[in-house]
Amino acid sequence: MQNEDPLKPDYDFNAHLVAGLTPIIDGDELDFVIDRPSGMKGYIINMTSQGEGTVFRGEQAFHVKAGDLLLFPPSAAHYYHRKHDCASWFHRWVYFRPRAFWNDWLSWQSSYNGVYLTQGLDADNVAQLDKLFVDIEYISKSDLPYRDDLAINLLEQLLIRCKSVQPDVVIKPLEPRIVEAMNYMTQNLNKNFTVEELATHTCLSASRLGHLFRDEVGMTIAQWRDDQRISRAKQLLVTTNYSVSQVGRIVGFADPLYFSRVFKRKAGTSPKRYREHIS
Ligand code: FCB
Repeated sequence: MQNEDPLKPDYDFNAHLVAGLTPIIDGDELDFVIDRPSGMKGYIINMTSQGEGTVFRGEQAFHVKAGDLLLFPPSAAHYYHRKHDCASWFHRWVYFRPRAFWNDWLSWQSSYNGVYLTQGLDADNVAQLDKLFVDIEYISKSDLPYRDDLAINLLEQLLIRCKSVQPDVVIKPLEPRIVEAMNYMTQNLNKNFTVEELATHTCLSASRLGHLFRDEVGMTIAQWRDDQRISRAKQLLVTTNYSVSQVGRIVGFADPLYFSRVFKRKAGTSPKRYREHIS
């Protein structure tokens, strides 16, 4: 029979997100080595909340204590347990299958034997991360509407925060002219301007603007504008009674068919279905 408890061996992690707290106390039933030599299908993010744990053995062994974070990519071996001279090891964890655009957040500065480790965070960061772990577990086990979406949304926050505290992440504000181009586009979502027109607003040549935008934002101007248009369209679909083609027009798509096509590509469903599903 399938084991129903994710804290016990042989639980089948056949899900997109599973979260929990593993409270290991010396001599208790959970006081065993978590040993998965070929890793898991998904990632695991793990934060120690009390006591100490040991990851790996022999020369590769290292220890984790309260506030330390571990990230196990799918192929990394799992081998961890309560540190032998410590009375307990409590750790919170989230198992997840990532979305493609999370890639950047899933590589941290330091890794040991394929496992990422982050230590030495200040108390504020630890408290914020801890709260996210708690909320993810609570929501994923609740029967709230949109439970999965909410849990994934919090997990994204957790991953972004973990990435942003990596020592090698430098804070680089966006180029002011790129911010200006973005502001212009969001204020004129319904207008069909060319890159040349946008460039004159930012005092750059069209090709310089195009390159700079891509370097700074990681996507093209057209892709970014479509993203903004579709997220505004989503809002309008659920908060107004405008017809789908009116919504399309408001966000800059004169052709309803083209609007539906772009919407579907970005949102994974048609505007009509999106409205029915969310409202
Ligand atoms: C639990 C472990 C926890 C984590 C999850 C995926 O059984 O206690 O550390 O590995 O599985």
